[in-house]
Amino acid sequence: MQYMRFLALVLLILPGTKSFAEPNQVTLPEIEMLEHYTTVRRGEVTEHMMTTRDAIDAVESGKPIPPGNHVVLVDYREGEVYRYFVMLKGEGWGEEYAEAERAGDWQFQWFWADGSINMDEDTARCRSCHRRRADVEFMYTFDDLLAFE
Ligand code: HEC
Repeated sequence: MQYMRFLALVLLILPGTKSFAEPNQVTLPEIEMLEHYTTVRRGEVTEHMMTTRDAIDAVESGKPIPPGNHVVLVDYREGEVYRYFVMLKGEGWGEEYAEAERAGDWQFQWFWADGSINMDEDTARCRSCHRRRADVEFMYTFDDLLAFE
């Protein structure tokens, strides 16, 4: 039992294995500095979509979102923050993943309300689903962002 636990730990921290959750380049930004551009409601969950003024300006002028800009989904349950889903673009960051697993130069991360990373999540899952939106900045709520003033 002890040995299995040790083995699991070794696998988790083994460098180069991207199939486990990992701290990556994504940081949790200061949420109050971001603009709230739309809200999605799913049953008990209320999602506030937030991004920077720079990202909004870029999208509105038909330009790519510049590196260094966050897009955040703040997941509220019963009025409290439950978790943050964060996307952050960085110059060349896609190269850290195999070509078939990239979402452009975006990296993804799941933070709990206290700012810690959910180490049970494999961010390849995030990228894999968001890849379907490659033509619109890998974003599902791109149209709402475009419509936001
Ligand atoms: C199975 C598909 C799927 C997976 C996996 C997924 N997402 Fe999303 N994501 C969506 C959808 C759909 C939306 C739009 C909001 C909604 O419908 O709830 C979204 C919205 C977002 C947004 C707001 C910007 C946007 O694209 O609209 C962020 C940020 C985000 N997801 C981050 C993440 C992170 C981080 C992970 C992994 C921990 C993740 N997503 C995993 C489908 C997915």
